[in-house]
Amino acid sequence: MNTLTGKHILLGVAGGIAAYKSAELVRQLRAQGARVRVVMTAGAQEFITPLTLQALSGNPVHSELLDRDAEAAMGHIELARWADALLVAPATADFIARLQQGRADDLLTAVALACDAPVAVAPAMNRAMWENPATQANITALKARSIHVFGPAPGKQACGEVGPGRLLEPEQLVTALTGLFETGALSGYRVLVTAGPTREAIDPVRYISNHSSGRMGYAVARAASEAGAEVVLVSGPVSLDTPERVTRIDVISADDMQHAVQERVADCDIFIAVAAVADYRPGQVAANKLKKSADQMTLVLARNPDILAGVAALPDAPFTVGFAAETDAIEDNARAKRVAKSVDMIAANRVGKGAGFDTPDNALQVYWQGGEQVLPLTDKAKLARQLVALIAQRFHDKHNKVIRFNAKDSA
Ligand code: C5P
Repeated sequence: MNTLTGKHILLGVAGGIAAYKSAELVRQLRAQGARVRVVMTAGAQEFITPLTLQALSGNPVHSELLDRDAEAAMGHIELARWADALLVAPATADFIARLQQGRADDLLTAVALACDAPVAVAPAMNRAMWENPATQANITALKARSIHVFGPAPGKQACGEVGPGRLLEPEQLVTALTGLFETGALSGYRVLVTAGPTREAIDPVRYISNHSSGRMGYAVARAASEAGAEVVLVSGPVSLDTPERVTRIDVISADDMQHAVQERVADCDIFIAVAAVADYRPGQVAANKLKKSADQMTLVLARNPDILAGVAALPDAPFTVGFAAETDAIEDNARAKRVAKSVDMIAANRVGKGAGFDTPDNALQVYWQGGEQVLPLTDKAKLARQLVALIAQRFHDKHNKVIRFNAKDSA
């Protein structure tokens, strides 16, 4: 497993001679474990056939914006939502100009406009076209909109000239694309994450638990690791693979989880509690399997420790992030929970009726003191990256304030 494993890469191919390199790029992306879909402009299809890219990507190639069948299968909005990143390689001068203008007059520009995942262009064109002030102004404007620009490389060009304008090689593009996910926003910091449900034993064979799949917590752990953090994941019982470079500690009950967290919390800068910890456990665990006899039975439950509140109350508490799974009055309940538990940030989501728990998608409303942000419905991996980016921002903000305060204090 590496950073691109399982990532949805939408590759846009515009009409330039370098389009022949897209075939090798698709092959290399898939070799990294990425899932690839290709959108071609009309011009691109003059240089390389859709069939080639379909065979290599393992998916039908998309090219029509105003085609009923194509839109019904996977329209421009679905493609944009599907993408974890959009890379246009090669990006011609004309495509760059249209992207800069925010046009949506073909499928690729429409997808780019609708895409809220990171977007990158890899320019490829004649040297003079690249150096032209019009293209340079477009590139400056794209960068100002946080669109990434990979290359171009200098060298001998297809037109016979020598200079900047060559498409980067496929392996360089793969490295650059990997860098979009490995943001470095948490480099050098340690993150402790809890995930999954807990199981509270009733007797040796029965327990109380909940529907948490652990997917959101695992996605958060992976996103934090990709952002450069050293990540420890304390996990309840789930059937998920441990993300790359993440240290996983398996626990069963809330009590186990609390101990595992207590042992490591002093070494962490950020604590993210995603686990759906059981609020109560049976007051007594029967030593032997309970036998059925009476028509009714009563279980006396005891309150479990609140792990998150416990961490937030530590004198030297890390930056704390909690989750709030709510069925109603999401904002009010989440805000109240953030204050009651004294946590820096709370991410709330709706649960019940197919939402939140045990589903591939989720949406979050995130609250912190003096701020809030909505992260709209998308798959949990993408959502986790957006949440980790937000956590990194707030964490650095708080950190800098503390440093400034201490500097003032000692002055
Ligand atoms: O109070 P509530 O259970 O809704 O709070 C949810 C948040 O608190 C989650 O971040 C969850 O991981 C954390 N929590 C905890 N220990 C508990 C209960 C909840 O860390 N016993």
